[in-house]
Amino acid sequence: MAASSSLRLFFLAALMVAFVLAAPAPTKRNLSKRSFKVPRTLNKAHPRGLNGYDAMRKVYMKYGFTGGFIAEQKNGAGESVAGLKQNAANATNGASANRTGTVAANPGQNAALFLSPVSVGGQMLNLDFDSGSSDLWMFSTDLPQASIAGHSAYDASKSTTFKAMTGSKFTISYGDGSGAAGTVGTDVVNIGGVSVDNQTIELANAVSQSFIQDTNTDGLVGLAFSKLNTVNDGTKKTPQKTFFDNVMPNLDLPVFTADLDPDGTGVYEFGKIDQTKFVGQMAWIPVNASSGFWQFDSTKFAVGGVEMTNKAGSKAIADTGTSLLLVDQEVADTYYSKVQGAQNNAQVGGYIYPCGATLPDMAVAIGSSYMATIPGNQITFAAVDKANTTCFGGVQGNGGAGLQIYGDVMFKAQLVAFNGGNQSLGFGAKPPVPGKR
Ligand SMILES: *[C@@H]1O[C@H](CO)[C@@H](O)[C@H](O)[C@H]1NC(C)=O
Ligand SMILES: *[C@@H]1O[C@H](CO)[C@@H](O)[C@H](O)[C@H]1NC(C)=O
Ligand SMILES: *[C@@H]1O[C@H](CO)[C@@H](O)[C@H](O)[C@H]1NC(C)=O
Ligand SMILES: *[C@@H]1O[C@H](CO)[C@@H](O)[C@H](O)[C@H]1NC(C)=O
Ligand SMILES: *[C@@H]1O[C@H](CO)[C@@H](O)[C@H](O)[C@H]1NC(C)=O
Ligand SMILES: *[C@@H]1O[C@H](CO)[C@@H](O)[C@H](O)[C@H]1NC(C)=O
Ligand SMILES: *[C@@H]1O[C@H](CO)[C@@H](O)[C@H](O)[C@H]1NC(C)=O
Repeated sequence: MAASSSLRLFFLAALMVAFVLAAPAPTKRNLSKRSFKVPRTLNKAHPRGLNGYDAMRKVYMKYGFTGGFIAEQKNGAGESVAGLKQNAANATNGASANRTGTVAANPGQNAALFLSPVSVGGQMLNLDFDSGSSDLWMFSTDLPQASIAGHSAYDASKSTTFKAMTGSKFTISYGDGSGAAGTVGTDVVNIGGVSVDNQTIELANAVSQSFIQDTNTDGLVGLAFSKLNTVNDGTKKTPQKTFFDNVMPNLDLPVFTADLDPDGTGVYEFGKIDQTKFVGQMAWIPVNASSGFWQFDSTKFAVGGVEMTNKAGSKAIADTGTSLLLVDQEVADTYYSKVQGAQNNAQVGGYIYPCGATLPDMAVAIGSSYMATIPGNQITFAAVDKANTTCFGGVQGNGGAGLQIYGDVMFKAQLVAFNGGNQSLGFGAKPPVPGKR
């Protein structure tokens, strides 16, 4: 009797302990701010600065595209066509493709052009906010000293709030085999003065050469859907929540906006849509998040206000980690057929034209109800030569890869709100900037 009742007591006590352990830990999130801003500044340590070839190669590599431009690069010889097609298919499915090509990674080609400050466990890092991926990874002191040189590297041993996720790993790879890999844990991540106290962070213990050479970039903040997160527990995929997923319940609105100036710098704002940053009403378009990307249909386009059907009609994604507006090849071909002196030059990486050319407005459909217009005077990405005689277009073709990637060229002309609550994108046209078309 005594034994059984003390046993019962033991079970009761055990149950209570279990209950206490299972009770949600108090969240110490910063509730004093229901919206916050974080600046996006130019990466001054970018090895080559604004460069059309790098921008083009970066987006092709990120998504494993291998058509037109890449296929014609002389270094790209030795790729199997089947492998190339598979990569494009994998990119469309949201998987990260690993292209084991022979194209050498030159400094600058994968470098982030724009960075934002982030505190991890009280340590400041410069990270690239990327709505085209879902890992929050950073340089860490697990890397060899020679790889760290010039970077800020996160030191878990110096953080009192770090917790290791023992056995968990991450590997994020780009098309050319560049990427990062390492271990996983949680820590307090503070962006714009707002903290998430249990954010999954990924500590690189291996990074590719291109990241080593880009000394200002200490890692990425992925802002796509958590489905794309690459963390695994050693046996299976265990996708982790992004910073945005974690902070969303505390925000006034479940959104973040990308508000870019003509030079690409600007502000990311979480929890609020600044109505003064666009003209007219914001248009809302549902996204299909099943791929993990901020993905939508885009089957129409307009050049100089003349609307046309995009016959390939590939799905499109909104990607703050890409510089260009990468459209189906025929769309780019049609656009530049209206630009005097334009030519598609594989050596340079894509469409170029005399800097003095008059450029028509370009519009791309966002879902079935909205056309996002990029004024002609905001199309040029960069000059190709020092004398500014030849310019590289911000609109380029995807070489038939089957996915359209809408990057900074669009965000400079449109205030875009990423709504994680009802999985939609809000678009508002930004006021026109003065200057020649
Ligand atoms: C593409 O995805 C398929 C299926 O998930 C996989 O078998 C294949 O290895 C991947 N190919 C590449 C090049 O990553
Ligand atoms: C890419 O694939 C090759 C061959 O399968 C492998 O050796 C390499 O480690 C992979 N790279 C990354 C970054 O995953
Ligand atoms: C919380 O927000 C307040 C008000 O902006 C700020 O002063 C404080 O430093 C923040 N605390 C943390 C831990 O981020
Ligand atoms: C913190 O995050 C980890 C990984 O996502 C999770 O296993 C753990 O339960 C979380 N802890 C708290 C207190 O929320
Ligand atoms: C999503 O939310 C926004 C802002 O709250 C709202 O205006 C819009 O109509 C919603 N969109 C969809 C597709 O449900
Ligand atoms: C969403 O996209 C997936 C493929 O990425 C497709 O299978 C599915 O039909 C799409 N859903 C809708 C509602 O369009
Ligand atoms: C070329 O354009 C850049 C950027 O607008 C400017 O800084 C530079 O002075 C120009 N160079 C010449 C030779 O006009």
